Amino acid sequence: MTRRILGVGAVIRDADGRFLLVLRGHAPQAGRWTVPGGKVEPGESLRAAVVREVAEETGLHVEVEDLAWVVDIPGDDDVVFEVHDFVATVRSGTLQAGDDAADAGWFSPPEMAGLPLTTGLIKYLTRAGFLIDEGDAMPELLPLDPDELLTTTRSVRKRLDLERPVPLDVVKEALEVALQAPTGSNSQTWHWIVLTDPEIKQKVADLYAKSFATYSANQPRRDDTARRVASSAQYLADTMAQVPVLVIGAIYSGADLPDGNQAGLWGSLLPGAWSLQLALRARGLGSAWTTLHLVYEREVAEILGIPPNVHQGVLLPVAYYTGTDFKPAGRKPLDDILHVNGW
Ligand SMILES: Cc1cc2nc3c(=O)[nH]c(=O)nc-3n(C[C@H](O)[C@H](O)[C@H](O)COP(=O)(O)O)c2cc1C
Repeated sequence: MTRRILGVGAVIRDADGRFLLVLRGHAPQAGRWTVPGGKVEPGESLRAAVVREVAEETGLHVEVEDLAWVVDIPGDDDVVFEVHDFVATVRSGTLQAGDDAADAGWFSPPEMAGLPLTTGLIKYLTRAGFLIDEGDAMPELLPLDPDELLTTTRSVRKRLDLERPVPLDVVKEALEVALQAPTGSNSQTWHWIVLTDPEIKQKVADLYAKSFATYSANQPRRDDTARRVASSAQYLADTMAQVPVLVIGAIYSGADLPDGNQAGLWGSLLPGAWSLQLALRARGLGSAWTTLHLVYEREVAEILGIPPNVHQGVLLPVAYYTGTDFKPAGRKPLDDILHVNGW
C-alpha cells in the first residue's frame, strides 16, 4: 500500500523578486535546485515545519504566510510525498546553506531558467502566479566559450526532461539565432515546423517508433559504443511523444528532389538545424538529430499539412536537459580522415 509522507516547502522572494532556492544534496533529485523544505516531524504543524526547514537549510528565519499549492511527489518503494508549499518572508538571519542543502542562493526568473530545477517547479510557480508565464523564465546564455559549445552539444535522449515545460518563446529565440546560418544564394527556402500539441506529437512519434523498430531489428552485432547509442535511441523512440517540443526542419525543393548530388539542396537547411541545436544548448536545452521519421515522410507531411514541394530533413526532439554538463565525445583520429592538398 502507498505510504504518504507529509512535507513542506517555502516560496520566498526578496525585494527584487528573486527566489530563494537550495541545491538538493540528496535523492530524490539530488543536484537540482528547488525551494527550501523537507519532511514534517511527528506532532509538528505544517507552518512550524516550514520555519524549521528553512532555518536548517538556509540559516534564515521566516514568517509563514498563505498556502501556495499542494503537490504529490512520488518517491521510491510506494512512497508518495504530499508537499504543502507556503509563501514565506525572511525576517532575520544570514544566508548559509546547511542540513541537506548543498548550496543556497537568490535567483531571478531568468537565472532560474539556466539552472537544473526540480521537476515541475516552474510549472507550479507559474500556476500559482509567481511567474507571469513560463516565458518569464527565459534563460540567460550558459557561460560556454565557442569551443566548449561546439564540443559539448551532444545528441541528448535519456537526459531530456520530459516533465519541464519548454516555453515556445525560448524555441523561437533559438530559431532566430539559427536563421543566421548560410543558405545557397541566401535563398532561405527553409521552413521550421514546431510541434507542441500532444496529439500531433503522438502521431509523428508513432511513425518514428515504427521506423525505428524496423531499423533496429536490422542492425548488425554491435560494439559497446554502438550498443549504448542503440539503448539511448530506443529510449527516445519510446518517449518521443512526451518530449515537450518537436522541431522539423524542411526545405522548399520543388515537387521532386534533384537528381545526383543533393548537397546544394540540403546545405541550405542542415547548417541551420545544427545552429538551432547549438543555440538551444546555450539556453540549457538539449536536442537530438533524428531522421528515421523520413521513412514515413509523406505520412508526416499529411498529418502536418506540409505541401508536396517541401521536403523534410531533420526532426529534433527538444527539452530542457537533466544534469548539468556534457563532455566532448570520442571521435576517430583526425589523421585518419585528413587530406592536405589532395586525397
Ligand atoms: C544524419 C544523421 C541522422 C541521425 N539519425 C538519428 C535518428 O534517427 N535517431 C537517433 O536517435 N539519432 C540519430 N542521429 C544521432 C547520431 O546517432 C549521433 O549524432 C551520433 O551517435 C553521435 O553522438 P553525438 O551527437 O552525441 O555526438 C543522427 C545523426 C545524424 C547526423
